[in-house]
Amino acid sequence: MRLRHELFDLTSGEMTVSDALAARKSIRAFLDKPVPKDVLETLLETAQQAPSGGNLQPWKVICVTGTARDDVINLAQGRLSENPMGEPTDRPVYPPNLWAPFTERRREIGEVMYGALDIPREDKAARRQWFARNYQFFGAPVGLFFILDERMAHGQWAHTGMFMQSIALVATELGLGSCMQECWGILRPSLKEHFDLDANDMVYCGMALGYPDWDHPVNQIKSPRATLDEFAEFRD
Ligand SMILES: Cc1cc2nc3c(=O)[nH]c(=O)nc-3n(C[C@H](O)[C@H](O)[C@H](O)COP(=O)(O)O)c2cc1C
Repeated sequence: MRLRHELFDLTSGEMTVSDALAARKSIRAFLDKPVPKDVLETLLETAQQAPSGGNLQPWKVICVTGTARDDVINLAQGRLSENPMGEPTDRPVYPPNLWAPFTERRREIGEVMYGALDIPREDKAARRQWFARNYQFFGAPVGLFFILDERMAHGQWAHTGMFMQSIALVATELGLGSCMQECWGILRPSLKEHFDLDANDMVYCGMALGYPDWDHPVNQIKSPRATLDEFAEFRD
């Protein structure tokens, strides 16, 4: 593996962690430009420094490019055309009957994104069509799938999230963009079979990865955040 500083000229001003946190955003349109394998290896090995309880490092990653990427896109297209709602899972993305303020936040980011894409709320078909781009990795040349042993407890799901965020931050530093993709969760049984996973393994989440198309309107959006007093308390 080549080291990060061997791959990139970082002499023109290093990006701080805070810079990377500020710059990272979900990227949903990509350039048609492959990501070299040694860049992917460096990205994953760097992000693997993410902590995990008991140092379990519960995650595994399947990285698809080229034909393997096309195959999984075709699989999704086939399965979702037969069954647009996807396959049952006992680990849904959101709890049933989500409540305030989370419902409002979810609606708001939808409005921000579809607003940038100029797709009105009434145009359900166009919104569905856009959402379906998830299952083509939004055109990204790389798809990552995060695999967990389904016997793991909720802690290990959180630890895998830390690994994923680490990937997203290092990707930002390397000039790459990413979009985490829970949407793949509606195809867990099919993906398990497709990837020939071990009996107890499951796909937790996907991620689209590649060089951002900064000219695309969807990449112009900045998602809002709650204010400090909404989520933090200082007690002394
Ligand atoms: C675990 C996880 C899964 C996500 N899954 C999807 C997804 O399936 N499709 C999608 O378009 N965005 C997905 N997102 C992106 C979120 O919508 C996004 O992170 C949020 O709106 C904040 O925007 P930002 O990432 O640009 O800061 C996911 C984010 C996370 C953390």
